[in-house]
Amino acid sequence: MIKKKPSLKKIKSEKTPADMQKKIKKSKDFQKEQKKEARLSGSNTKTPNLLRGFKDIMPKDEYYWKLMRHAAEGIAEAYGFSWIETPILEEASLFVRSLGKGTDVIEKEMYIFEDADGKKVALRPEATASVARAYIAHGMQTAPQPVKVWYWGQMFRHDRPQAGRYREFHQFSCESLGVHEPVVDAELIVVAYNFLRDLGISSQVRINSIGTLEDRERYIIELVGYLRSKRSYLCEDCRKRINKNPLRCLDCKQEQCRPILEEAPQIIDWLGDDSKKFFMTVLEYLDEVDVPYTLDSTLVRGLDYYTDTVFELYQEDEEGGAQSALCGGGRYNGLTEQLGGQPTPGSGFSIGLERVTTVLRRNLQDDMDKTVSQGPKLFFAQLGEQARRRSLYLIEELRRNGLVVRHNLGKSSLKAQLELANKFGVTHTIILGQKEFQDGTIIIHDMESGIQEIIDQKKLKQEVKKLIGE
Ligand code: HAM
Repeated sequence: MIKKKPSLKKIKSEKTPADMQKKIKKSKDFQKEQKKEARLSGSNTKTPNLLRGFKDIMPKDEYYWKLMRHAAEGIAEAYGFSWIETPILEEASLFVRSLGKGTDVIEKEMYIFEDADGKKVALRPEATASVARAYIAHGMQTAPQPVKVWYWGQMFRHDRPQAGRYREFHQFSCESLGVHEPVVDAELIVVAYNFLRDLGISSQVRINSIGTLEDRERYIIELVGYLRSKRSYLCEDCRKRINKNPLRCLDCKQEQCRPILEEAPQIIDWLGDDSKKFFMTVLEYLDEVDVPYTLDSTLVRGLDYYTDTVFELYQEDEEGGAQSALCGGGRYNGLTEQLGGQPTPGSGFSIGLERVTTVLRRNLQDDMDKTVSQGPKLFFAQLGEQARRRSLYLIEELRRNGLVVRHNLGKSSLKAQLELANKFGVTHTIILGQKEFQDGTIIIHDMESGIQEIIDQKKLKQEVKKLIGE
C-alpha cells in the first residue's frame, strides 16, 4: 500500500506548544553558547591583533620577494643544489639535541608546546637540524656525496622584536652533507655571496674557525679562566654566560665588555694542525675567486652544532661599518651523529630574507616603480552577463598564448573598467559587449587615439600580438 505523504500544512499544524517551547529553548541555548565563546576569545567586535614580531607580507613587496625567489632558484640550480622541504613543526627534541641546551634559541626563543597527543613539539627555529634528520631518515648517506640541498621558508624564534629581528622570518638556505673538504665551505660562501650580488647587494664575509670539538674544549678552559679573572668588569649577561656558554661572551656588543674581549685568548691559537690547515685552505679558495673577507676571531655563532669554519655575511653601509648579518653559516661535522645517524660532515648557510628585503627596498625603489609601470599592456573589459562568462575563456586563451591581460571581472560598468585601464597605463583595451558576444566579434580600443576596431573573436590573439609588437 502506498503511504500518502503528509502535507506541509499538516506537519505545521502538528507542532504542539511544547515543541515550540523546546525550539525556543534550543535557540536560546545556542545564543548563550555563542556569547560564551565570544567572551572566551575576547571581544567579538574587535579585530584580533597581529602577534608581536609577526608581520603580513603585503602585495607592495611582491616584487622583492619574487626577485629573491628567482635569484635563489637560479643560483641553487647553477651550483647543483636540489630542493627540499621539511615540516615547520618538528619534535622539540630535534632542536634541543642539535642546537644545544645552553643556547639562547633553546633557552629562551623556542615556540614549544604539547600537541593533542601529549608530544612536545616546536615550531622550527631553524632548519639545518631538520635537514640532518631528513638525511638520516631517508638513508641519504647511500646517495652520491655530498648531498646538496636548498630550502626556503619560515622560521620562528620568540626573540625580542627590533629592526631586522622578527619572531617569524624567512630564510633561503643551502646545505651540503657528506664531504669534509675546504672547497665545500668555500663554495657555500661563494653561493651566498653571489646570491646577494645577483640582487645587486655587495657584501663582506666575516669568517673564523672554531676547530673540532676537542680544540674547542681546550680553548674553553683557557677562555673561562681569563673571563673569571675579569669578571667584575663584564656586563651582567656575560657574567652569567661564563659558566653556561662562555663562547657567547665573545660576541657581546656591550661597550664595557669590548676592551676585555679584545684581549681574550683567540680560538685560532688553539686549533689543531688539521683544523688550521683546513681553515687556511678555505681562505685560499676565497682568495682565488675574489670574495672579500675579514678574519673575525670573535665570531663563534649562536648554535652549538658548529665545528671548524663559521661565517657571516654583512652588507657594508656607506660609511664602511656593518649592519646586522644578512647570512650566517658554517660547518657542522657532529650534527648528524648527535641526532643518532652515522658520523657525517656537513656545512651550510642561511640568508635572512626580511633583512635582504630591507636592503632591496632601499636600493631598488626606482626599478620597482618602472617594473610596475611596465606591467601588462592590455586590459580586458566586459559588459553584460554572457560577455562576462565568455571573458574568462578568452582571457585564459590569451594567457596560454603568452599574452597577460589585466582585468576586473567584478566591475560591470564599462566606464569604471576603462578608468581602471587608464590607471594601469595599458595601450589597448579589449572590449566584449553583449552585441559582440552574440555575433562572435570583439572590440580593440586604442587607449591613446580612442580608435576602435571590431574584429572576429577567432582572430583576437593574432591581432593583439601584432598590436603590441610581439
Ligand atoms: P642564524 O645565524 O641563526 O643561522 O640565521 C641565519 C640568518 O637568518 C641570519 O644571518 C639573519 O639574516 C636571519 N635571522 C636570524 N634570526 C632572525 C630574526 N629573528 N629575524 C630576522 N632574521 C633573522 C641559522 O639559522 C643556521 N641554520 C644557518 C646554517 C645553515 N648553518 C649551517 N647551515
